Amino acid sequence: MQHRTIGGRAVSAIGLGGMPMSIEGRPDRDRSIATIHAALDAGVTLIDTADAYHLHADEVGHNEELIAAALRSYGGDTSGVLVATKGGHLRPGDGSWTKDGRPEYLKEAVKASAKRLGVEAIGLYQFHRPDPNVPYGDSVGAIRDLLDEGVIELAGISNANPDQIREANDILGGRLVSVQNQFSPRFRSSLPELELCAQLGIAFLPWSPLGGIALARSGELGTEYAAFLEVAEAHGVSPFRVTLAWELALAPVVVPIPGASRPESVQDSAQAADLTLTDDEVARLSAAGA
Ligand SMILES: NC(=O)c1ccc[n+]([C@@H]2O[C@H](COP(=O)([O-])OP(=O)(O)OC[C@H]3O[C@@H](n4cnc5c(N)ncnc54)[C@H](OP(=O)(O)O)[C@@H]3O)[C@@H](O)[C@H]2O)c1
Repeated sequence: MQHRTIGGRAVSAIGLGGMPMSIEGRPDRDRSIATIHAALDAGVTLIDTADAYHLHADEVGHNEELIAAALRSYGGDTSGVLVATKGGHLRPGDGSWTKDGRPEYLKEAVKASAKRLGVEAIGLYQFHRPDPNVPYGDSVGAIRDLLDEGVIELAGISNANPDQIREANDILGGRLVSVQNQFSPRFRSSLPELELCAQLGIAFLPWSPLGGIALARSGELGTEYAAFLEVAEAHGVSPFRVTLAWELALAPVVVPIPGASRPESVQDSAQAADLTLTDDEVARLSAAGA
């Protein structure tokens, strides 16, 4: 498995997104644990989660607990695994997603996440989504305090535009290590943020890198933009793998975090790190659907 870096820490070039194992359509616990173990077996050392990855109101942190349990029960060494969680987004239990970016809320939420993950300090903590009712600088200021106090080891943001990336990096004194935005062949509107991260040397973690759970599970991926299917056929691999390899090829700061709820999905996705596309293929995929 190839490596990339987040804040100086080496991580696998392909991470694992935990969300499909804890929200609508989630599998049973045994299959989730097997999926996380399959990722570790494949060399994945970045696992993305959030306190909001749960279904019912009384199970906040379902995904964080699942990941912590899977790491504990794994037979091998997990000391090199970076678990990246998030706070500031909530699920009241009716299927909706709400926001709370108040500093006092974030400072409580991070403690609960650390407890569920069973760690003294959280490896990478990401402010999940700007809260329109709270000045962005106040929310990011809370993340800076957590970093200064050693409650978190690395700080990231998510769903941020270029101005917010610059503002967050300033507030954090140049210590912003990652930006997690939606990016896939279908959703390319975060390309300016990806390019800004490449320029600033900040890791860019595309979320829903395969177009999202519904599209990926529908089997339609690759049919939307024929070029992805054609390149996949030329290499004898899945269009999922080509999609992730294309994202990796866009900049050395990119670390996709494909979600999974089956071992087979992670086993296939992890191999994208070893798939080298030609410059022509990358250009063709970038042009497809643009
Ligand atoms: N920051 C944010 O606001 C935000 C928002 C959304 C998501 N995220 C993060 O981003 C992660 C990824 O996004 P996502 O899960 O929404 O969507 P995604 O990664 O685009 O798609 C996930 C689905 O793709 C399928 N899949 C993955 N690799 C596959 C392969 N090689 N072959 C066949 N199927 C494959 C999985 O199916 P199976 O379930 O059948 O395995 C999974 O359910 C999330 O898990 C979460 O950690 C962050």
